[in-house]
Amino acid sequence: KIYHNYFFDEPAFNTHDGGYVPLEVADAPEKPLAIPALLKPDKETDTDIWYTVTAQTGETPILPGKKTKTWGYNASILGQTIVYPVGKHIHVALENHLSELTTFHWHGLIVSGPYVDGGCHAPVYPGETKHIDFTLNQPAATTWLHAHPCPSTAEQVWHGLATMVLVTDDHINNLPLPHHYGVDDIPLVLQDRRFHEDNQLDYRADYDPDGVQGPTALINGTVNPFFDVTTQKVRFRILDGANRREWRLHFSDNLKFAQVAGDSSLLPEPVYMDHLMLTCAERAEIVVDFSGYHEGQIVTLFSDDVPIVEFRIHQFAPDKTTLPEHLLAIKKPEVDPKTPIRKIVMSGMDESVMMDNKKFSMQRIDATQPIGESQYWDITNANSKESGMVHPFHVHGTEFLVISRNGHEPYPNEHGFKDTVGVNPGETVRVLVRFDLPGVYMYHCHIIEHEDGGMMAQIQTYDPNKPKPTYKLMDMDTL
Ligand code: C2O
Ligand code: CU
Ligand code: CU
Repeated sequence: KIYHNYFFDEPAFNTHDGGYVPLEVADAPEKPLAIPALLKPDKETDTDIWYTVTAQTGETPILPGKKTKTWGYNASILGQTIVYPVGKHIHVALENHLSELTTFHWHGLIVSGPYVDGGCHAPVYPGETKHIDFTLNQPAATTWLHAHPCPSTAEQVWHGLATMVLVTDDHINNLPLPHHYGVDDIPLVLQDRRFHEDNQLDYRADYDPDGVQGPTALINGTVNPFFDVTTQKVRFRILDGANRREWRLHFSDNLKFAQVAGDSSLLPEPVYMDHLMLTCAERAEIVVDFSGYHEGQIVTLFSDDVPIVEFRIHQFAPDKTTLPEHLLAIKKPEVDPKTPIRKIVMSGMDESVMMDNKKFSMQRIDATQPIGESQYWDITNANSKESGMVHPFHVHGTEFLVISRNGHEPYPNEHGFKDTVGVNPGETVRVLVRFDLPGVYMYHCHIIEHEDGGMMAQIQTYDPNKPKPTYKLMDMDTL
């Protein structure tokens, strides 16, 4: 079976909001797609691995003419790609070389909140280095690191503070999937920007409380990129790293592909499709088979009808491998029927966005949940179908299963673990959430300006057999 639609409620998507900025092809030459380097560990033993991650400023040649002032992790823009093997004791030094406070949020990692998780309660001040350590116990996945200081997450991400973090395990390493990073295993960070005079970003000038957008697609920090395809099959790890934009992806010739993973794990089995929509912070790993093309041909990836990456086909060796029919066994945890269903409402637009009728407050705990207990969360988008937006709902410190959309089956590519789910206007999405680690975790809309604008709350998870610890929670004013 091949799916031919984006699944999302298209009429709702098409309304956008008043300030929607369509993509346009930039008047700039084509350039090779930037492939972020893999971050080298400082040291590695059989059991432990050490990294240093530095938030820094830099200048990046993006358009002809002046370089653009950008921020990145161990790089001038975005960052080097970090690899975290499951089971190893991971030590990370977090260095802030910026002139303002930042935080290092591990979006998609099951690590304890609120400090290791790197949300707004874990500031690293300019010139400071902080040390965290953790061991991952979660399926292999494409996750990411981004800044998360409240309320300037959106602006710091806009400057470039976002990079991929690949969680690996033996199971995925042994599957017949393309694994050669930079050759047939390619990260694609999808963002959009507006370039002002002298090719500079100007976040304030572009500010929109419903999410900052620009007309120019920026893929791994590259405008008008092309990639040289030298293998028959290529795996793309796609991240919607935009502040606001959904991507509606399809290839030329409606080339079909297999989605093999979502946000937080492999899918149970490959899902064959020729259209894919991602909302902010969602990830998809797809495997594309270029066997129908030969040297010299070009395959284009579009978002709607705007080309965003060109794939130049070179000679490749025939590849007869087939994708496994089963990728990952996912067992749905039992929910005690006596456990109440948590109701969550995302409402409003512009400055009036709220979570459960409240604006975010850093010092307020909005909910509690014992660790180890599975709960249904019903997440409602209260916007109207006529003028609302799709709000991508994200929870820190866990990965959930999507159970239903307005009582119906979730989309076919939503059967793996996820940490972000797009909720259509007027829709209620039921997810099954379990936390394994005690802590304080944020949950919010991942249109980053909505998050900064208060469509966010926090939950304290606790071990029911122990006294509840108290956490030092930051206050916006003390920043
Ligand atoms: Cu991508 Cu609160 O995070
Ligand atoms: Cu997160
Ligand atoms: Cu939103």
